[in-house]
Amino acid sequence: MEELVEIVVDGRSLTVSKSANVLQALRDHGIDIPALCYYPALEAYASCGLCMVEIWSNAIWNPRHACLLEVEDGLQITTVTPRLQRLRSWAAKILLRGRPFHNSEAEDLLLKLVQGETADGQVLSGSTTEGCILCGLCIRMCRKIGKNRLTYLGRGKNLRIGLVPGEGNKATCGNCSACRDICPMGFISPDAEHAFKARLYKE
Ligand code: SF4
Ligand code: FES
Repeated sequence: MEELVEIVVDGRSLTVSKSANVLQALRDHGIDIPALCYYPALEAYASCGLCMVEIWSNAIWNPRHACLLEVEDGLQITTVTPRLQRLRSWAAKILLRGRPFHNSEAEDLLLKLVQGETADGQVLSGSTTEGCILCGLCIRMCRKIGKNRLTYLGRGKNLRIGLVPGEGNKATCGNCSACRDICPMGFISPDAEHAFKARLYKE
């Protein structure tokens, strides 16, 4: 049987499933926390940095990634503070370096989080992964369905997503579209082969 616990969110008591992480628990109660690298069926990876909340511990409020935070009885959470606004804005600025994106809804969310600071387009440039925020959802989904054909390649400024190097990648990719369907930025179009090889990640 599902174990339920009580948490306090913005001063309101909520009954949530103990098996959920905080982001999922908040979403289940209709509390909207921005998040671009989270998908319920996949292990959280905390790469977008948007889902910040504050929790009360050791007599102070501490910022945490809601997607990585386990629900526990009595947990006190705040979802709206000036500090959270700053942290989300900062994370959004970094992600916006990958502009332009194919998913305008996701891009609008990021622009809203930085509150117009990017209007001149000056601050946010210089990404080598145009259109992709390196959230890794495509890799995690590809692993989850047992194909495991995608991986991070390169390091630092050259970090990118690509097909696992080696013989026979074309044959085993399978074009199942699972990565395309989960990509929050609309990058994988028309398919993985095109997105990761032909368009951006050509060596
Ligand atoms: S291609 Fe899409 S899903 Fe994959 S890392 Fe980039 S933004 Fe995330
Ligand atoms: S959803 Fe938590 S860091 Fe992206």
